[in-house]
Amino acid sequence: MSNHISVVTEFAPEVQSNRKSEFPVNPLFLNRWSPRAYSERKVSDEDLNTILEAAHWAPSASNDQPWRFIVAKTQEQLGIFHQFVNEFNMVWASKAPVLIVVASKKVRGNGDPNVAHAFDSGTAWGSLALQATLLGLVTHAMGGFDREKARQLLNVPDELELHAVIAVGYLGDKSKLPEALQARELPNGRLPLSEVVFEGTITK
Ligand SMILES: Cc1cc2nc3c(=O)[nH]c(=O)nc-3n(C[C@H](O)[C@H](O)[C@H](O)COP(=O)(O)O)c2cc1C
Repeated sequence: MSNHISVVTEFAPEVQSNRKSEFPVNPLFLNRWSPRAYSERKVSDEDLNTILEAAHWAPSASNDQPWRFIVAKTQEQLGIFHQFVNEFNMVWASKAPVLIVVASKKVRGNGDPNVAHAFDSGTAWGSLALQATLLGLVTHAMGGFDREKARQLLNVPDELELHAVIAVGYLGDKSKLPEALQARELPNGRLPLSEVVFEGTITK
């Protein structure tokens, strides 16, 4: 259990040479990145439960907890998910041992629309990704999937919106990726903070 709550104190080697924060932050935030090279190693049910547990402790408007996670981890379940992930993602995502559809409930218990459902579910996915990093796992969100096909194949009701498919697994050998993807298999950067943070009023 202790490794689930351990504090990350070191930047990963590939992060050290590619990412720099302007202000100090725990290395955990930079160590999370979205690789495409997945190893064959399976994810234990214990670790899978831990990342989902972390996700569902996210804050949400009125504590409505609109997030829903549909998990594929058996060959049969993965085979169904592979039918709706876009071709350009399947090139690498077919190797991921776990895929998770992140959905959210658009209506509250009383039937009113929940305007915060997407915001809240994004927060939950962020927690999932950070907890995965703490466990030595990697994650990669994909918006590139056929939502209608997913809805049909997974029997998803209309009141749920489908946001992303998340690949979860362990970092693998990038030489097994197609060349164009090998070149992109590095942590990327961020805009300067001054382009996204404004004081008092928005100035750009
Ligand atoms: C909602 C969402 C959809 C995304 N869709 C895709 C996708 O379809 N294919 C892909 O390769 N990456 C996808 N990404 C990954 C982003 O490109 C990546 O998170 C971004 O470049 C930042 O890099 P980092 O996650 O390594 O920090 C998606 C990320 C998010 C959050």
